[in-house]
Amino acid sequence: MLRAIEHIRRMRGGAQAHLMRCSDGNYYVVKFQNNPQHLRILVNELLGTRLASRLGLPTTPVAVVEVSRELIQLTEELCMELARSRTPCTAGLQFGSRYPDDPRRLVLHDFLPDEKLREVANLHDFAGMLVFDKWTCNTNGRQTLFFEEKSSASTAAPGDHPRAPGNSPLPYRTLMIDQGFCFNAGEWNFPDAPLRGLYARNRVYESVTGMESFGPWLERLEHRITERVLAELAGEIPPEWYADDYDAVLRLLEQLQRRRTRVPELLLSAKSSSRQPFPYWVRDS
Ligand SMILES: Nc1ncnc2c1ncn2[C@@H]1O[C@H](COP(=O)(O)OP(=O)(O)OP(=O)(O)O)[C@@H](O)[C@H]1O
Ligand SMILES: [Mg+2]
Repeated sequence: MLRAIEHIRRMRGGAQAHLMRCSDGNYYVVKFQNNPQHLRILVNELLGTRLASRLGLPTTPVAVVEVSRELIQLTEELCMELARSRTPCTAGLQFGSRYPDDPRRLVLHDFLPDEKLREVANLHDFAGMLVFDKWTCNTNGRQTLFFEEKSSASTAAPGDHPRAPGNSPLPYRTLMIDQGFCFNAGEWNFPDAPLRGLYARNRVYESVTGMESFGPWLERLEHRITERVLAELAGEIPPEWYADDYDAVLRLLEQLQRRRTRVPELLLSAKSSSRQPFPYWVRDS
């Protein structure tokens, strides 16, 4: 079992995550069971990220991380800051999203200015992320990390696309993070809407010219996400993250299984919205 060894710093954001050094020598952004958003966001993060990786999308490796009572007692910062009080983080099994490299060496960006987005080598992956976000009804805008790829740093993650042959000259890569609001956060339902799941900038969808542009991910959704895969992934979730309500998990998996065929229709409703997210859509198919 992966264990947290040292607290590094608090991260920004509603889940009040913490950066921690863990027993495998890597750094993880850890979200705790008693985060202010919802207990189930830990399920959403683990299940959602593993599903995204199955679709061939660029994700960070994710894991269940044990944080001991002793470490929490010894680290004053390991607490949730509520409006009028502070509560220590819960000990036990938490969700960890691996920092892509040593945080002292790699600078990450939550956003890039529009003109820099064209310098992202895997910008086309945003189309695949939209397939994923429509399928899982992510009720938060899509969030990613950007970083400058150094040829010496080993930043490839399982599920990540291999680098383009001949070493692409484009300096940035993006990785999808924060699947906490997939399945509508703690609700585990799917209030679909045309603009849901879209990234804030249309520029990331410039490679979309028709439904075919989503083809590779739609195909994987159809062929790689089987009942068995879903059950296997669910089996890796600590039961305390879903308050031992496995029936609720089964219902969630059933809906995910069923919704796979609805994704093209959900993409079309985004396409027809007043936001016009796909400026280069040329074919009607
Ligand atoms: N694997 C990771 N490696 C590096 N940084 C990360 C990783 N995962 C999350 N972060 C960073 O930690 C911060 C919080 O992450 P995240 O967005 O997942 O949490 P959140 O609390 O849901 O935030 P919000 O509610 O504001 O969207 C962000 O600044 C994000 O860039
Ligand atoms: Mg976030």
